[in-house]
Amino acid sequence: MRVLVTGGAGYIGSHTVVQLVAAGHQPVVVDSFVNSRPSVIARLEELTGEQIETHSFDLRDADKTSALFAEGGFDAVIHFAGLKAVGESSQIPLEYYDNNLGATFSLVEAMRRHGVRTIVFSSSATVYGEAAPVPYVEDYEPLAASSPYGRTKVMQERILSDVAATGELQVALLRYFNPVGAHPSGRIGEDPQGVPNNLMPFIAQVAVGRRQRLQVFGDDYPTPDGTPLRDYIHVEDLAAGHVAALEHLAAHPDLAVRAWNLGGGRGTSVLEMITAFEAASGRPIPYEIAPRRAGDLAAFWADATRAETELGWRAERTIEQMCADTWRWQSGNPQGYPG
Ligand SMILES: NC(=O)c1ccc[n+]([C@@H]2O[C@H](COP(=O)([O-])OP(=O)(O)OC[C@H]3O[C@@H](n4cnc5c(N)ncnc54)[C@H](O)[C@@H]3O)[C@@H](O)[C@H]2O)c1
Repeated sequence: MRVLVTGGAGYIGSHTVVQLVAAGHQPVVVDSFVNSRPSVIARLEELTGEQIETHSFDLRDADKTSALFAEGGFDAVIHFAGLKAVGESSQIPLEYYDNNLGATFSLVEAMRRHGVRTIVFSSSATVYGEAAPVPYVEDYEPLAASSPYGRTKVMQERILSDVAATGELQVALLRYFNPVGAHPSGRIGEDPQGVPNNLMPFIAQVAVGRRQRLQVFGDDYPTPDGTPLRDYIHVEDLAAGHVAALEHLAAHPDLAVRAWNLGGGRGTSVLEMITAFEAASGRPIPYEIAPRRAGDLAAFWADATRAETELGWRAERTIEQMCADTWRWQSGNPQGYPG
């Protein structure tokens, strides 16, 4: 399939591009580079041995988006593009609603106009909100996120589902848990701009000497060691989940819309992750206990059985592999991607 990958220069999109090529598909990247570097593309070409057709513009530009589809000959879309920092979304909510919803409107309108039906959408476990019982199951309602970022995901899920109900779209809603890790080559990985919001890139930057110490936000949660439990998933497993979902939609043209959790189905604590990273890197990770962060939940993880039963997909990689691959990327690229 010829697949348009929006946000294909970003962390998860770049890993998915490599796996699409490996699976015999032809990815085409569109990215505004608002949160990624153009030099990613050269790394993707190095890893795949293919030229990666890349278009650099903001998807909210409806004319350019429509023109891309007019020429594109796409069979399907994987839609990663969006702003994703939970904390920042409370400071600049309008930018989050405008970017994330605006990009989706423009994209879906172009798909409709040019007869492309199939879309795999990057959703998040954040759509389950604070009241959902753990483990999270896909049929849980009502979806209710606790940040503007999360609400853009709930809204995009609703918009895509409503259009799917008309028969004009076929939609996979992939709800990611906590993506970490990097391609085993160490050539592509997570490269946050500024201070990392997530645990793993922060740990990696401490290990490589870019930051002095990690803050652990709360050690008095009702968990075995008092620190929060999260369901970490290796980005390579996550990328494979996209290929599986894409191929599932192609094989089931009557399927209108379906949500799948992409998680490992178990929780790992912050302290367990620090210990595993120290072992993988051979570096100490100095940390201090800081107050809890507003909005952080004690523990959640996926019920991942639906993806296994229906997509034949399962998270395979261990916490040790997540740490080893992150370290290979971070130690080989201490300052992230060049320009
Ligand atoms: N990384 C996570 O922890 C996580 C968890 C759950 C869901 N997600 C979702 O998965 C998707 C990919 O996440 P990621 O971690 O790879 O993020 P990322 O920021 O690395 O990648 C997103 C890419 O989209 C591009 N982009 C943003 N707005 C755009 C626009 N209007 N037009 C064109 N390009 C645009 C950015 O430049 C970037 O390259 C996002 O939608 C994110 O919300 C991520």
